[in-house]
Amino acid sequence: MDRIHYDDLPQAARQAVEIQTGRIKGARTTGGGINSGVAAVLDGEGGPVFVKGIPREHPQAVSQAREVAVAPYLPAACPRLLWHLEAGGWVLLGYEVIDGRHADYTDSGDLVLVLTALRELQEVTAPDVPELKRAEQRWTAYADEGTAGLFAGTALLHTDWAPHNVLIGDGRAHLIDWAWPTQGAGFIDPHVLAVRLMEAGHSAGDAVTWVRRIMSWREAGRAELDAFSVTSMRMWREIADNDPQPWKVTMAGCAAELRAFLLASSWAR
Ligand SMILES: Nc1ncnc2c1ncn2[C@@H]1O[C@H](COP(=O)(O)OP(=O)(O)O)[C@@H](O)[C@H]1O
Ligand SMILES: [Mg+2]
Repeated sequence: MDRIHYDDLPQAARQAVEIQTGRIKGARTTGGGINSGVAAVLDGEGGPVFVKGIPREHPQAVSQAREVAVAPYLPAACPRLLWHLEAGGWVLLGYEVIDGRHADYTDSGDLVLVLTALRELQEVTAPDVPELKRAEQRWTAYADEGTAGLFAGTALLHTDWAPHNVLIGDGRAHLIDWAWPTQGAGFIDPHVLAVRLMEAGHSAGDAVTWVRRIMSWREAGRAELDAFSVTSMRMWREIADNDPQPWKVTMAGCAAELRAFLLASSWAR
């Protein structure tokens, strides 16, 4: 949805925020991301806070609920959720501010930090909360018949590794935007990341060389990787067909290329 400035929120919403933050001296709308109707760093009396929000009636409001549900279980690689509230027709989440910039997936220094954060996340067992999606259910419609069960697992997956969902600051990568937390097999997150590395310009081979540093990828069998790469290819094809924005068409191309690469390399083995 279109992003408005914090100052344009209904007064009732801003008042409710100020109860949490103290008087707000300024607000800077942040770039990156497409879902939140508001995303801003607030200069509050009690210190800076990042606030994101969406109208309560918006179909994407459910993603905010998922974000709130998973927040207590996130590893140190993620900013702390400080508060969440509903006021003036908006759902608003207040986070610790990360002083950083979006990850650059063409920069190998950044990629080392991103993989470190992913490794940290892979240690986390998915919590048993109803808002969490299950990988084998979430992607079943795109999977070859009988293969979605291969996506099941106990890992907590982020599943949206767009570079604007990773902030680099304080010498580490921070994972933000938990709109799509999912419980499933660990190799799924490195797979999703690999497609994003290709979007940034890496070849399939280079992308796989990077994500092979993650144990769950190395331990995944050929059947698992094949099944998910077909699924990811079909999902991105549908997304691009429904709304052919250039980045979606690029993602669909990358997912198809990764699928072809994995197929060829499993044949070679
Ligand atoms: N904790 C944070 N501290 C500072 N900036 C943040 C923080 N979380 C998100 N941002 C910035 O706001 C943008 C949008 O936030 P995000 O959670 O990704 O929402 P969206 O759902 O709109 O993608 C991010 O790309 C980033 O630039
Ligand atoms: Mg985002």
